[in-house]
Amino acid sequence: MRRLWLLPLALCLPAVGEVQNPRTSAADVASGAKTFRSHCAPCHGYNGTGGLGPNLAAGRFYHGSTDEDLFNNISNGIAGTEMPGLFYSADRVWQIVAYIRSLSSAEQAAPPGDAKRGEEVFASKGCSRCHQVDGQGGELGPDLSQIGASRSAAYLRESIVKPDAEVSPRYWRVSFEDGQGRKVQGFLLNEDTYTVQLIGMNGALESYDRAGLKDFAIDKRSAMPSYGGALSSQELDDLVAYLWSLRPAGRGSK
Ligand code: HEC
Ligand code: HEC
Repeated sequence: MRRLWLLPLALCLPAVGEVQNPRTSAADVASGAKTFRSHCAPCHGYNGTGGLGPNLAAGRFYHGSTDEDLFNNISNGIAGTEMPGLFYSADRVWQIVAYIRSLSSAEQAAPPGDAKRGEEVFASKGCSRCHQVDGQGGELGPDLSQIGASRSAAYLRESIVKPDAEVSPRYWRVSFEDGQGRKVQGFLLNEDTYTVQLIGMNGALESYDRAGLKDFAIDKRSAMPSYGGALSSQELDDLVAYLWSLRPAGRGSK
């Protein structure tokens, strides 16, 4: 029932060409902000600058930057990710789109710091032990090749000094004792009735028989050490500038 509005919208697409947001008044932006703060802020941050979900305030979107893309991603969610489908009326979604657009002007400026020097800090502090950038580096942590396109500078800074603040469930660590009494730890990938699959702390895929597993526990803290005390404030600024500069070629500001 609640999704019926999708049909008339789809029908008018070919005629209209580029879809225009019909709800862009100041009152619409204010309503959009209200919905955003109660339903989206837990993942995207109170001001949309990112948390578990990406920064939406930078005016650059990995999954498409037109109003229509935003509309579809918010209405339908993004398959295979933690972005849920949200069953709102079309008007309500357009108000959220208007609110997201209103954020862009605030976040465009590059953070202070020197990206070139930050790249050197990244290498010398051992970040690439766990992170890939453009195909180089370890695989225990997320690939950072395009991290600047989806995370705000504030979020990047927090990831480095307070890694525990936001940890995606993909990086929660499970631990248990297997049937032979060995202690096992890793990122949980999948489980079914008979087996548990995880990525071990050496990065390899492992599978265990469920039978006989003992002391199953989940640790939601980050596997990444905090660098709060290990970097000067200049090094931290430079590192954030470097990470912020990592974004797909040709997908700059739109
Ligand atoms: C449970 C957490 C969660 C909630 C709640 C959530 N999102 Fe998301 N959202 C995500 C994640 C995670 C992604 C990134 C998906 C990916 O690319 O892996 C995302 C992606 C997006 C994108 C695409 C960003 C891009 O770069 O293309 C938009 C737009 C978006 N969300 C808007 C919203 C809005 C608006 C709401 C509230 C109505 C909302 N989200 C609620 C987690 C969430
Ligand atoms: C021992 C492995 C390890 C090292 C070393 C490490 N990280 Fe991480 N990092 C991780 C893991 C695992 C995660 C995912 C869990 C989390 O969000 O904290 C992560 C997350 C991140 C994120 C957040 C990514 C996102 O998509 O939200 C950033 C940014 C980051 N690391 C940067 C760095 C930088 C910069 C350094 C060096 C100063 C570094 N890491 C060193 C393992 C590591």
